[in-house]
This record gives sequence, structure tokens and C-alpha cells, in this order.
Amino acid sequence: MTTPSHRARVSRRGFVTGLLGTGATVGAVGAGALAGCSSPDGGVPHPPAARFVEFEGPHQTGVIALPIPERGLIASFNVLSKDRAGLATALSALTEEIRALMAGHPPQTRDPAYPPVDSGILGEQPPADNLSIVVGVGASLFDDRFGLADRKPKELVTMPFLANDRLDPNLSHGDVSIIFEAGHNDTVQFALRQLMRRTRSDLVLRWMVDGYARGIGAGRAAQASTGASTPRNLLGFKDGTANLDVNDSAVMDRHVWVAADDGEPEWAVGGSYQAVRIIRMFVEFWDRTQLVEQEALIGRAKVTGAPLGLSGEFTDPDYPTDPDGQRIPLNAHIRLANPRTAATDENLILRRGFNYSRGFDGAGRLDQGLAFIAYQRSLNKGFLAVQARLTGEPLEEYILPVGGGFFFTLPGVTGSDRFLGDELVD
Ligand code: HEM
Repeated sequence: MTTPSHRARVSRRGFVTGLLGTGATVGAVGAGALAGCSSPDGGVPHPPAARFVEFEGPHQTGVIALPIPERGLIASFNVLSKDRAGLATALSALTEEIRALMAGHPPQTRDPAYPPVDSGILGEQPPADNLSIVVGVGASLFDDRFGLADRKPKELVTMPFLANDRLDPNLSHGDVSIIFEAGHNDTVQFALRQLMRRTRSDLVLRWMVDGYARGIGAGRAAQASTGASTPRNLLGFKDGTANLDVNDSAVMDRHVWVAADDGEPEWAVGGSYQAVRIIRMFVEFWDRTQLVEQEALIGRAKVTGAPLGLSGEFTDPDYPTDPDGQRIPLNAHIRLANPRTAATDENLILRRGFNYSRGFDGAGRLDQGLAFIAYQRSLNKGFLAVQARLTGEPLEEYILPVGGGFFFTLPGVTGSDRFLGDELVD
């Protein structure tokens, strides 16, 4: 059983009008709506004001929303619903709450004899903070509990142990994944608690990792539309430079969104395979490694992010002029991940993750790393093909995948009567 929403119901039209009245920005995910304002001198655009990210669309908007805000959290849940009808109720409640959270609906006040309707962390009016929430489902949801076995996306499996993995069962897999992004941690925590409170009889936390989104950026797309420079991961390298352009819908259609002719179940069209990898970094060891060695492992200059031997972060690494790896070693991370040949074009993936820092372990070593998240139209052609090429890369010595999972990001929702996964549980 899920509890009804206590958030005030405000019509979308009324809500938008209200916000515009207060000067807040409500935008679609398209490049136009997101473009930062040009500076008066025509230089780098200023970052746009924080906004409420549109919830509705053919795809879940958080997968490609810009700017990528500062904070991130991934939570994986087990589903406790008794049957398919219960699951449908839970997904419907989840959607209703996500709609309200992403739109910043104020909570209702009620009789103080009852617990307040929300945690109160954000006060009376949740501010615009680029909050987005993305929901996916794991292979385990398609077991015999809900009679969904024949509706499973064809490539969705429980994430196997891959080379170099030491997967912790307490940090892996799950029936449902929910990814939160927002400008501040309190917005993320508020959203997490609201969703958990609303679905407490159906969704129970299995694992979660939170961090800050200076992990994987949107590369050139972010720079072009918001002026954001590429963030750095905890190895100190710019990460996201060569990422796919989220503003190019043809590229997204080709590499990220499941299409009608992909041979996937009909309900899955518009969704995307999500590969999550919690990858620990041995940062103390890394910090004792020579700069030349660090750069050779990645294939880029640490400070500028330029491909080795070339200048400019976004310059093509130009592998044909370096067939023997004189400039960029043949086993450098970027060269293996994307050899940039016609044949490997079908392996391109959209990366969107965040750094995490979780204290330290029993040996006094920092527990830091990357919550790697990738979206792709095909798990086999995307993440698994790239990962297979990376297997045995010299960078493995400095990193250890300890968790994560494979999920299928549900298609987006269009229409107020629709909910995430409605056609799956129909
Ligand atoms: C902790 C682990 C990892 C670190 C530190 C790391 C770091 C980096 C860095 C610094 C870059 C260069 C900047 C850029 O273009 O984004 C890069 C690129 C890339 N990485 Fe990783 N990465 C990690 C894991 C992975 C994994 C697990 C995959 C996929 C299986 C992956 C796939 C890619 C791809 C596809 C590129 C772009 C290459 C290109 O198009 O030139 N990375 N990574």
C-alpha cells in the first residue's frame, strides 16, 4: 500500500505561470531552452539560473538535462509489492511524487497533531535547484513475482562479474534504480526521503551511493550551452571531454534511446539501458605515480585535457597519424575505450556519473571513486563492448569496481494520466 500524496496539487499551467511570476526559469530539456545567456562581450556564456527540470517527455529528462548539477545520488531498491497491481500502484505513486518534486510543489501544511507531510529540509518552498530524478528497473524485477518475464528488455541481465571486479553484494544490483541530481545535497536528500516515505510499503533500500557531480561531464555540449568547463574525476583528470552531445537528438536517437525497430518489447521504446559501476580508486597509490605515467594511462594531458602530443581539450586524438602509439599509447584508456574507427562508432555511450568519497577503510586508505553511469541503446554494443576493450588496461591497477548493476531506464511520460512504467505493468 502506498500513501496518498500530501503535496499540494497545482495545475501545470498554474504552476508555470506562478513561477514565471517569481522570475524562476522553467525549461524544456532542448538546447534552446538551456542555452546560457551570452555575455555582453560575446564571450563564454554565463551559466543559466537554476531551474525546475521539466519532468514530462518521450524520455526521462534527467538522462540528458543540462547543466549537470553538482550533487548526485544513486539508490537501488528491492520491491516488496505483493503482485503486479501492487507494483503498478507503487510506480504510479513514485511518478506522482517525482512530478511534484521536480516541479518544486510546496508541501501542504496540516494538523500539527499529525507528523508533518515532509521532512521540512527545504522549508516552505523548495527552490529551483536543477533537480532531476531518473528511474530504472533491474533484471530481477522480471522474475516470477509479477509475471513480467516475457516483457524483459532482451539484453537486460544481472550485471556479471567483469574483469578486475570485486563486487560487494551490499553494493550491487536491485529491482529499481533511482538516480537523483541537484545543485545541493539538501535537495537530493529531501527528494530521496520524500520518495521513500511515499513508497515505504513497496520499495526498500538495498544500497546507495551519493557524491558530487564533478565526475563525468557533458563535454563540448556543456561548454556550448552553459559555459560549464569539463569537471574532473578524483584522479584529477577532466572527465567527459569526448562525451556524446546530449543536445544532438540524432546522436541520442542513434546511441542512447531504444527505438521501435530494435526488437525490444513495445513498452521499452524510448527507454535506455543503464550501466552503473561503483569504481573505487586507489588514490594514495595514484598520487605517488609519476605524471608522465598518469597521462600515458589515460592518454590525455592532466591539466588541459588535450590528447597527448596535441593542444586543445576538444582536439581529435587523430589516431591514424599515430598508428604505433608513439603519442598516445595503444593501451591508453581513451584509445581503448573509443578507437574512433567506423566499426566502433556503434559502441558509443553516454556517460553521466559522479565522484564519491565515503570516508576510509580499515587500513586507513581513502574510500573514493567514481559512480560511473552510462546510457546506451544496446548494452551489448555499448557498455559491454567498451568494457571488453578496456579489460586488462593498465589503468586497472589503480581502480577496483566494487558494485553497481544493470538497469533499464524506463521511457519518459507524456500526459498527466500516465506514469513511469505504466505500459510495462499494464
Ligand atoms: C574509475 C574509472 C574510470 C576513470 C578514472 C576514467 C577516466 C576517463 C578519462 C579521464 C577520460 C578522458 C576524458 C573524456 O573524454 O571523458 C575517459 C574517457 C572515456 N572513458 Fe573512462 N574512466 C573510467 C571508467 C570507464 C569505464 C568503466 C568505461 C566504460 C566501460 C569508460 C569509458 C570511457 C569512454 C567511452 C571515454 C571516451 C573516450 C573517447 O571518446 O575518446 N570509462 N575516461
